[in-house]
Amino acid sequence: MTTTQKIAQQMTTFGKGILAADESIGTMSSRLEDAGVNPTAQNRRDYRELLVTAADLADGVSGIIFCDETLNQTFADGTPFPEACRARGILPGIKVDTGAKPCPGLPGETITEGLDGLAGRLADYARSGAAFAKWRAVFTITDNAPSRGSIVANANALARYAAACQEAGLVPIVEPEVLMAGAHGIGRCAEVTAAVHQTVREHLALLNVDLAGIVLKPNMVTEGEDNSHPATPEEVAAATVEVLRSWPGDLAGVAFLSGGQPAERATANLAAMQSHDTPWPLTFSFGRALVSPALAAWHGEEDRVGDGQAALSAHVAANAAAVRMRGQLQSV
Ligand code: G3H
Repeated sequence: MTTTQKIAQQMTTFGKGILAADESIGTMSSRLEDAGVNPTAQNRRDYRELLVTAADLADGVSGIIFCDETLNQTFADGTPFPEACRARGILPGIKVDTGAKPCPGLPGETITEGLDGLAGRLADYARSGAAFAKWRAVFTITDNAPSRGSIVANANALARYAAACQEAGLVPIVEPEVLMAGAHGIGRCAEVTAAVHQTVREHLALLNVDLAGIVLKPNMVTEGEDNSHPATPEEVAAATVEVLRSWPGDLAGVAFLSGGQPAERATANLAAMQSHDTPWPLTFSFGRALVSPALAAWHGEEDRVGDGQAALSAHVAANAAAVRMRGQLQSV
């Protein structure tokens, strides 16, 4: 087994998920401001330390994704974040894309950037202790989008990123996200997600990316957020698994993003997935569905750190319990 295959297995180990705490400085700052917290580098650091030091986090989390700022910060006691995570049995990861930017030639669509100088940055991140990386491609559903051009351009960038990660000994989290924005039905989301995944698979194969050494981070297949007929967890699970079935059995695992779903809905959908027999684990790599409740409970107040951590622990435990239902179903 290669190094990246071993790490990918650790990341998708049974009963655990991955915590996405990799908001960019801009996004994290506006979330802090919304919560009434001054958006300083110190407060962003304090917040991430609060997350990492939540009690028993490693029971439900195999890895945490950070942004560049956090990876280079230290705990209050001077311990670098990657070292502090590893000491707790949690793998540190790093978001390496530089964001979704307007795509030349395709008005209204985006291309995720960050390939320039990527090999050098990956080597630096590996030296800093990162075990894995993340790159997010974004697709918006409209009547005419996503276009074939945006799917191909983003799939190619994801594949170049993934190949570069594996050469650097880091596991790439491959995140093609079809956004929930819109009023479309679940069928349209399934169709678009399937088309995106097929093209991503083709480009990963063209660059000889080893699927056993990646973690796929897809959206769940749902109706658009402006659609007034929400699909049930069973419908979401069935539609999502059907799309995923095109991935070969050697894929290390699937860890869903939450995509702005209410935390409880994301957990219920994840639980419903577990009744489907799949060759790869189906777990979580949620951002907002895990950290938003923690941020709201903390509110930037020193004497509410425990409240923030309790909120995070409760949501991690609920999602870990959801993925463990797979074992219960299999042992019945
Ligand atoms: O890139 C997005 C994050 O990794 C996942 O965030 O669960 O809030 O969609 P989310």
